[in-house]
Amino acid sequence: MVRKLILDTDPGGDDIFSILWLLSFLKHKNIDLLAITTAAGNVPARNTFNAACQILRLSEVDDIVVGRGVALPEQLFSHASHIHGSDGMGNLSQTLPPGRRRFADSPPSEKLIIDLLNRYPGEVTIVGIAPLTNLAIAENQAPGTLRKAKEIVIMGGAFNVPGNVTPVAEFNIAFNVKAAQQVFASRSDMVMLPLDVTRQLVFTSEMIADLVADYPESKLVEFMAKLVEFLTRTSLEHRETKGERGFVIHDAVAIAYLFYPELLTFKRGQVMIETQGKFTTGQTLLDNRHGVKSGFNAWVATAVDSHNLMACLVQDLTSLVERVHHN
Ligand code: BDR
Ligand code: CA
Repeated sequence: MVRKLILDTDPGGDDIFSILWLLSFLKHKNIDLLAITTAAGNVPARNTFNAACQILRLSEVDDIVVGRGVALPEQLFSHASHIHGSDGMGNLSQTLPPGRRRFADSPPSEKLIIDLLNRYPGEVTIVGIAPLTNLAIAENQAPGTLRKAKEIVIMGGAFNVPGNVTPVAEFNIAFNVKAAQQVFASRSDMVMLPLDVTRQLVFTSEMIADLVADYPESKLVEFMAKLVEFLTRTSLEHRETKGERGFVIHDAVAIAYLFYPELLTFKRGQVMIETQGKFTTGQTLLDNRHGVKSGFNAWVATAVDSHNLMACLVQDLTSLVERVHHN
């Protein structure tokens, strides 16, 4: 059976590698990437849109529709351009050909989500690796929309590890906390991939050293190598990797869930999101006490086989490069 997907993203370096990983499956696996919907997050909406379009062009994938996100009127947390560059692409956008789509002419992300879920009720998996703004707007505009998805998988939250934007809050949840709350209230089987697992995923230059050596002419490989260098530098500056020379490729875990689910372990629970804390807004909580529980709304990843995940990622990126190279 063909799996229908919508990728909701805010590129962002780790988003970019996740998009590339997903594109590596387009020709091999039975997937139908219906749309990439972009959102404000790591950088403003216009930049995440442009980044997604440039990555598609660089990968020679032309037939995917890209949705545009909205600017948020009140944002609790600022963008993350200090990590990802002001273009979300390690300030490398100028070195790449422009994307083939224009922001102003492209459909709003939430409209794509509503239309596609109406067209294929019960068939579409939404993979959210961004703040949950687009999903929440879709639900607001057309109540019941998110229940029409086959599954909603998101990278977000932090449970037994510190947050990455406050001592307790993770970026995708905290950036639009009301949206997150609304999305989690929309169904009882959210799949949540928190910092507890993603922090273990450190991508290093060494991992693509063979690709760099084997494809010295490849624009795609050159871009990947420079982006890893940029993210390694900013991640070290901001103490993201405990001193390891690399960057945390958080969002890749969502692609791993789709294609290599055996790499992850889950726990069923009720995820609660703090929306009004003085210091704790954006915190995610899961009741670990012993006792009868009810109100489950999610499956939360608790463990990951990081070593094999990174190996799968590198192998699949290699197959994407080979495909682009032989085109
Ligand atoms: C999440 O926040 C963003 O900065 C990353 O792209 C990822 O989606 C990690 O907290
Ligand atoms: Ca992201």
